[in-house]
Amino acid sequence: MAFLFFSLVVLLLLSVLVWWYVHVPWDMPRELPRIPIYVSLIGLWSNMGQDETYARWLKDPLEKKGAVIIWFAGRWSVLVTRPKYLTDMFKNEDLYAKAGSQVKIPWSVIASLVGDNVINTHDNWKLYTSIVKPGMQKRDFDTGPIIAKSRKFVDVLLEAQDVAGKANGVIVNQYIQRYAIDVMGESFLDLDFQCLDRPHVRIEQLQTIIKRTLFKPLYFNFPVLDKYPWLFRSRERAFQIMKEFDDTLYHMVRTNPRKQTREKGRVDSEKVAHALEEALESGKITDRQFRSNLKITFLTAHENTQQLLNITFWELGKSQEIQNRLRAEVLACGTSTATAEVVNRLPYLTSVIFELLRLYPPVSQLINRVTLQPALLGGEISIPARTWVGWNAYGVQIDTQVWGPTAAEFRPERWGRTVEEMQAKFRRETVRGAYIPFNAHTRKCLGQGFALLEMKIVLFELVRRVRWVVHPGYKLKLTSGGILAPLGCRAIFSEVSPEAQKEL
Ligand code: HEM
Repeated sequence: MAFLFFSLVVLLLLSVLVWWYVHVPWDMPRELPRIPIYVSLIGLWSNMGQDETYARWLKDPLEKKGAVIIWFAGRWSVLVTRPKYLTDMFKNEDLYAKAGSQVKIPWSVIASLVGDNVINTHDNWKLYTSIVKPGMQKRDFDTGPIIAKSRKFVDVLLEAQDVAGKANGVIVNQYIQRYAIDVMGESFLDLDFQCLDRPHVRIEQLQTIIKRTLFKPLYFNFPVLDKYPWLFRSRERAFQIMKEFDDTLYHMVRTNPRKQTREKGRVDSEKVAHALEEALESGKITDRQFRSNLKITFLTAHENTQQLLNITFWELGKSQEIQNRLRAEVLACGTSTATAEVVNRLPYLTSVIFELLRLYPPVSQLINRVTLQPALLGGEISIPARTWVGWNAYGVQIDTQVWGPTAAEFRPERWGRTVEEMQAKFRRETVRGAYIPFNAHTRKCLGQGFALLEMKIVLFELVRRVRWVVHPGYKLKLTSGGILAPLGCRAIFSEVSPEAQKEL
């Protein structure tokens, strides 16, 4: 009897504890639909892609109300997709302030990885931006390394195809990751990681482990568990991996042999890594801030482009018509060297990339802002202070009320006919909050120009030299959370012969 009573009390206490942890705070906006908590936890028992989860549980309420209340990374938050609300949030950074995991869950594995950096900081934003911006937003990027790495990438894909045989095709992601890290290293860190030349570069291997570790549904949704690494040994290992990445990158940048071989004072201080080093050495930033900004540059400058390229293999691999049209444009341009001047003139190439970013925005959803005071979002939704708010780019970009009845279809021609028309539409849709793959207004992406240039160059090289089809056995499966990307996309490559090039 005493045992039964004791068990009941424990059960009751546990239920109160769970209720206390997962109940929706009373002051959350009442007019907004609440997404059941199991939708956020679905990854624990199902492998549904984020497109499937969105279509089943989020699309209708979001398209109807423009915002919902959702459980995300351990708390109830407001998630927004209506352009009017999005622009209000993006324009008013002092009210909807950036607050990444270093603020929300400072003890967590992800916070140990990213720290306080140029993307997620509020207080130190001006300081960090003044240091990294010149290296991220150059008027004339050196396209030499991007062209060289893109060519090497195509060589590596063709070698992999030879080894695998036509029947098997190639799982593309591993090669894309190596390509994207190499380009990022050359362009921002003044380092050649040589991932495309050597298959087992440790810093690249660490990326694969990190990406697998960060979005584990249990720890992602209950980050409180990261407080107990002694209980969850896989989290202890996760902390170790983050530290190994931190130390490896720090060591490589600080002992970069290129610095020694250059004449004193001739180091390209506009390269982000060198600008950060100068800031560290002059006492502008601390060692911790240096490391965090270095790591975020490494991560953000390769991963988003990696995943955009990943989905490119799927979308263009299943539509030979689009691939052929792109190839025809590239082969007709009269040169095989993809300089910025050449690629920026090509309208179809531009529109294909804009459309890829619309239908498959790599940063599909982020909830990394907090209201510093009570807010009235878009003049309509009353949100209390200290509430986490965020946005879903995938949602607004496939909404038929925003993009018309063909919103869910891949149609590059929607961007217009000339490059000028396309760029004007790109700017217009961004400003009105309808097209936000790079975010908009105050905190928009600093690497947007570089990312578009890199994508144009690599696609130019790809269609110029190879044809690919999606392997008939591959069915599209998107990631269940985190960066939007296809899982395990497999393609079959064949070389475009010089004769075929002439024929086109
Ligand atoms: C396809 C590639 C890329 C996509 C889709 C992308 C997307 C984004 C998005 C959505 C944000 C806003 C994040 C937020 O609201 O918290 C952002 C911010 C940022 N991105 Fe990118 N990005 C890409 C490539 C790059 C590259 C190559 C760099 C260069 C290093 C870069 C540097 C940054 C920085 C520094 C910020 C923070 C800007 C600020 O808060 O002032 N990104 N990016």
